[in-house]
Amino acid sequence: MTAPPTPTQTLADRLPRHLAIIMDGNGRWAEERGLPRVAGHRAGADAVDRITTACRELGIGYLTLYAFSEQNWARPPEEVGALMQLLLEYVQKERAQILDNNIRLSAIGEIDRLPLFVRGPLRELMDRSAANTGMVLTLALSYGGREELVRAARHIARRVERGELRADAVDADTVAAGLYTTDLPDPDLLIRTSGEERVSNFLLWQLAYAELHFSPVRWPDFDRAELARALAQYGARERRFGLTSAQVAAGTPRADRAAPKETARPC
Ligand code: FPP
Repeated sequence: MTAPPTPTQTLADRLPRHLAIIMDGNGRWAEERGLPRVAGHRAGADAVDRITTACRELGIGYLTLYAFSEQNWARPPEEVGALMQLLLEYVQKERAQILDNNIRLSAIGEIDRLPLFVRGPLRELMDRSAANTGMVLTLALSYGGREELVRAARHIARRVERGELRADAVDADTVAAGLYTTDLPDPDLLIRTSGEERVSNFLLWQLAYAELHFSPVRWPDFDRAELARALAQYGARERRFGLTSAQVAAGTPRADRAAPKETARPC
């Protein structure tokens, strides 16, 4: 169902506060051009720059990009190596852009698995940009949603073992507090490019109420026009969080939790 904006709603009201993207299709983009897969990833890195700039200009507060999954470690070593090299180049090349545009760079996933030559500069830029307030750009690196939930479950189990927490007291907030994303609001919109329609182990808990948008465009070709199309469709949707349309219209509070999650660093 669509819900046209009311006269008092502005475009900013209709933008997702947190946009998450599964950047898919780099390999096919390259193969369709007779190029090695790594050329697709390289073009994909240009798209990261383009879309980050567009989101910053639009005023989207949080952008989270699925750049390397836990399962991607199983790809051919040459491809994994090329992706690590690209990440390093990205951090070096985008450094000024991130700092000049007041962007805070963050990462979720098993960052310690990344080779030191990537981890070092990445951590340095994350630390350097930590006080920035314009937008939070989060890279999911060596990330898996199931792995993240297992990690949270272990954290909770240890607290119960130590007698710090009663098992009966474990609730959704306890689980959320054990995730990588404690200082991020849940995504409002997930975009996946390249025509595949699945979430591939990305933010499994956090996407519970996200709107989903599947674009046929390969990630290296994803541009401002395609982003605008996704945002326009998102803006026309009614989000009900388990309520009825009438309840939403009457301003009934969301049913999925008592109060919207406040973040440590509101944008
Ligand atoms: C999925 O496409 C994409 C990836 C596994 C890597 C994403 C990496 C980038 C966009 C570039 C590097 C990232 C940064 C942040 C600089 P695929 O290879 O699975 O494509 P396919 O399904 O067509 O084979």
